[in-house]
Amino acid sequence: MFEYVDFTKPSFWLSAGMIVFNPTFWNIAARQEYHNKVITKLFGGSSRIGCYALGVTIFSIGIIRDLLYERALREQPSSPTLASSPIVNPLAVMLFASGNVLVLSSMWVLGVTGTYLGDYFGILMDEKVTSFPFNVTDAPMYWGSTMSFLATALWFGKPAGILLTGIVAAVYQVALQFEDPFTGEIYAKRERERKAGKKQT
Ligand SMILES: *[C@@H]1O[C@H](CO)[C@@H](O)[C@H](O)[C@H]1NC(C)=O
Repeated sequence: MFEYVDFTKPSFWLSAGMIVFNPTFWNIAARQEYHNKVITKLFGGSSRIGCYALGVTIFSIGIIRDLLYERALREQPSSPTLASSPIVNPLAVMLFASGNVLVLSSMWVLGVTGTYLGDYFGILMDEKVTSFPFNVTDAPMYWGSTMSFLATALWFGKPAGILLTGIVAAVYQVALQFEDPFTGEIYAKRERERKAGKKQT
């Protein structure tokens, strides 16, 4: 299949680079915030405004990543197999629709600060969210995003897009290895503090 991937196109590598950059960036930024309050300080001591600013930044680099991905795909050859198969387009539509449902519904239940790493700013959710879409997967945002990448690759019949989607999935898996234990510890810490608080009163 990868005979249809043109590795000589700089746009392919630019897209791959941005795919790796984004989660790396927000993990580093969020940890700098958690340990040194870097973003809060930058915004005059308001963690909420800092979190919104990080949200706007993450959203914007996400758009840049999507544009670079589309541009990379445009310069890549199409696979005749993908283009001629009758199930590829319906599959792409299904993936795109369900991927977007996962992403948008998790933004809806988490809110802005929950979506954009508020935990690291000390803005914690009251409870761990277990309702839809978190009853489907622990990382609906990441899986939904990955599904949209795959949908686009299939829709345009581009094996290069499938390869780039593989990178998206891999990078998110690595990001989860860093994020899950870290946020887990942030909430465990609050739980310990709550218990300690109860004993005092
Ligand atoms: C998740 O929750 C939704 C809405 O509450 C429900 O319709 C769906 O069946 C649940 N899915 C799973 C896998 O439990």
